[in-house]
Amino acid sequence: MKYTTKEAARLMGGKLYRLSGDEIIEGVSIDSRTIKKGEMFFGIKGERFDGTQFAHDAVRKGAVCAVVPEFKRTENVPSILVDEPVMAMGRLARAYLNSRLKAKIIGITGSVGKTTTKDLLHRLLSIKYSVSKTQKSQNGFIGLPFTILNASEKDDYLVLEYGISRPYEMDYLISIAPPDVAILTKVGKSHLEFLNTEEEVAIEKSKLFKALKMFDIAVLNKNTPMLDFFEAAIPKMVRVIYYETPEIIEMSVQGTVFKLDEVTYNTPLIGKHIITNLAAAIIVAKTLGVDVDEIKEEVEKLTPSPMRLEITHLGKFTVINDAYNANPESMKALIDTAGDINFNGKKIFILGDMLELGPRSPIFHEEIGNYLARKIPDAVLYTTGRFGKEYIKGARSLKVKEYFDNIDEILEKLSGEDGGILFVKASRGMQLERLIEKLKERI
Ligand SMILES: Nc1ncnc2c1ncn2[C@@H]1O[C@H](COP(=O)(O)OP(=O)(O)O)[C@@H](O)[C@H]1O
Ligand SMILES: [Mg+2]
Repeated sequence: MKYTTKEAARLMGGKLYRLSGDEIIEGVSIDSRTIKKGEMFFGIKGERFDGTQFAHDAVRKGAVCAVVPEFKRTENVPSILVDEPVMAMGRLARAYLNSRLKAKIIGITGSVGKTTTKDLLHRLLSIKYSVSKTQKSQNGFIGLPFTILNASEKDDYLVLEYGISRPYEMDYLISIAPPDVAILTKVGKSHLEFLNTEEEVAIEKSKLFKALKMFDIAVLNKNTPMLDFFEAAIPKMVRVIYYETPEIIEMSVQGTVFKLDEVTYNTPLIGKHIITNLAAAIIVAKTLGVDVDEIKEEVEKLTPSPMRLEITHLGKFTVINDAYNANPESMKALIDTAGDINFNGKKIFILGDMLELGPRSPIFHEEIGNYLARKIPDAVLYTTGRFGKEYIKGARSLKVKEYFDNIDEILEKLSGEDGGILFVKASRGMQLERLIEKLKERI
């Protein structure tokens, strides 16, 4: 993007402070640590920090100006003063998309699988097109406008995550970027802290499909709960495409062989649910004109996103790191994957808390313990965290199960094991990947 400060201020509904209006902005950033010369810094209030405090820092490092609320401006730091930086960013993103970008918008929603599907689709579309995608570790509210503002005028497609946790967020995201293609991964239990029922979640998510226009494309998971609800939201004359879990021929710690529309694919990725996401990506890429043989080649070269069923070999253990995040749906998916993997040895589960599940949290954890015990009766279960004991409670029939106060105790325990596959998973806040880091150090 390229705007003068005057144009940007007008589009955001802001006022210039210590700026002439002629300065050129060539990008945006929300992180003063990584900001580059020529970028505009948005001072956004996060959970831990208030970005407005770093306005001075950002400008010192070469930012053209900061965007901050008027009452939080820093004396003498060139700024655009706005009502609310997050909303200002949304306004600017909408204006940029409408007036400068030719890219079509591919929107992905669902309770799980958005990021995976987005990354896979980005890879496959990039075979033929110029594509930008939502960057990692940002929620939709900031991530979506941020991605748009960093997209190139050359881009053919933007692959965006419409991740929501509050009722008004989907409307907000759609008002910035109405989709041309909408993809549903799967609806399930997630973000129940702010959206009360599954029905409520589905109503919000279905808005992405309601927003499609004639000739647009809706892509639906044939096996998602509440499928008919989503079908009903799709306007007339929208093309509807379905996908489902393809036929899995073999899954091991080497990867997966599967068959989709008469083509056999080979990929280093594992997990039926990941392969399902891949099926969605393949179908969309094919629909948008990417050659099947080239897709097949690319599929062979895929690597998992960090901490999403990432396989590493550490001494006597094979580690399957799925510690990116967790909710009941994705926990079950991990357990299913573990069950699908051909392996003669111990399958050891190291599980931490699933967060943000509201008052029924203990029950959800107990249910997962129970699910594991039923699916993999000879599994080993080690847990930690506030709800660690609930997993154990649910997994009554497992022979080997134990709760630990911290990661170090689990490591101690592992040093006595004679090997196996470690399945490691918890919500982001638990940072369970530290266990894997420490395990690496010990080898
Ligand atoms: N289709 C799916 N069904 C069930 N679980 C899934 C699916 N896709 C991904 N997961 C699991 O959900 C978790 C989050 O995946 P991710 O792609 O980051 O989803 P999101 O961006 O929607 O939060 C991961 O642990 C992953 O293994
Ligand atoms: Mg995500």
